[in-house]
Amino acid sequence: MSTRIGILTGGGDCPGLNTVIATVVTAAAKRGWETLGFIDGYEGLINPVRCMVLPHSEMEHVEYRGGTILKTTNRGRFAAKVGQGQAVRVPEDLLDEAKSTVEYLGLKALVCVGGDGSLSIAQQLFERGVPVVGVPKTIDNDLDATAWTFGFDSAVACATDALDRLRTTAESHDRVMVLEVMGRYAGWIALYAGMAGGADAILIPEIPFSYDSVVDIVRARERDGLTYTIVVVAEGARERGGDLVTDGSVQADREVRLGGIGARVSRELAQRTGRESRVVVLGHLQRGGSPTNFDRVLCSLYGTNAVELVAARTFGHMVAMHAWDIVSVPIAAAIGRLRTVPLDSAMIRSARALGISLGD
Ligand code: F6P
Repeated sequence: MSTRIGILTGGGDCPGLNTVIATVVTAAAKRGWETLGFIDGYEGLINPVRCMVLPHSEMEHVEYRGGTILKTTNRGRFAAKVGQGQAVRVPEDLLDEAKSTVEYLGLKALVCVGGDGSLSIAQQLFERGVPVVGVPKTIDNDLDATAWTFGFDSAVACATDALDRLRTTAESHDRVMVLEVMGRYAGWIALYAGMAGGADAILIPEIPFSYDSVVDIVRARERDGLTYTIVVVAEGARERGGDLVTDGSVQADREVRLGGIGARVSRELAQRTGRESRVVVLGHLQRGGSPTNFDRVLCSLYGTNAVELVAARTFGHMVAMHAWDIVSVPIAAAIGRLRTVPLDSAMIRSARALGISLGD
């Protein structure tokens, strides 16, 4: 039997998952290896096992398509996070069952593509003896031990395009336009899109904001003869002294759903400035569609390097980007430590230098 590896995608989907799958399958095929894809993330490893051989010849049709041909889930029996991001242990019998599947199918390694939650599960499997290799995925870019996760650039591109469109309508109507973007407890998407899209105020979880400060920027622009204002709000942003805004639903096997802060900011700014304001919640548009050029390249780098890690038997590691090179780091170094925006980072300093309000 030829060497066989497995691959699965876990957590929320994002552009680039299929690029990683196609790249891993292709790089494995070049070594004469066969790749099995598991359906619905870790669930596919559990009875009834759901997997399929991924033929190299078919990969070029899916390479740049959004979503994941292997499906994915961020809830269910393998949900590794609940509440506001606390990691949980997956039940031992599930880990054992998954391990048995890997052994029964004779997999040399299991490539786990995911964010903090999915890589926490990969780590737990590794600790039980499963030869795993990780690939860091999330539009939120909040994974530690790598400078960049794939999917992030595509989400920023989507949000930037939205800002370009909002600017023209805001200007025509002299309105305050508020764009709420994803990112959970980190402000990366808001910050990068806000910078790229010329936002006047960017509100991120790392810097609790005051409405007075945002009103100041609206007034300052008016004094300059600019009668419209663009505000980007991360879904995890909150008013100083205030709470996170969620949709209120709490389900045992999944994280809280953030959302609603954009509408609050829009309402408050309308009241306090007397200007009309509208809110746009970008939502899952940020997770759909094809990956950007950058993400395509990053996914190709990550996919080929993941196969190299398998060949070198560097298990328990994930591929990572450090200073524009791809390296490997222990998965344990990446998980359980949310990577938020450092307040002294170049992005924050540049935003301030440009007069963008960060709400503080
Ligand atoms: O982690 C990715 C992410 O898109 C977050 O930015 C967002 O808060 C969450 O997932 C949304 O999850 P769901 O698809 O379950 O609504």
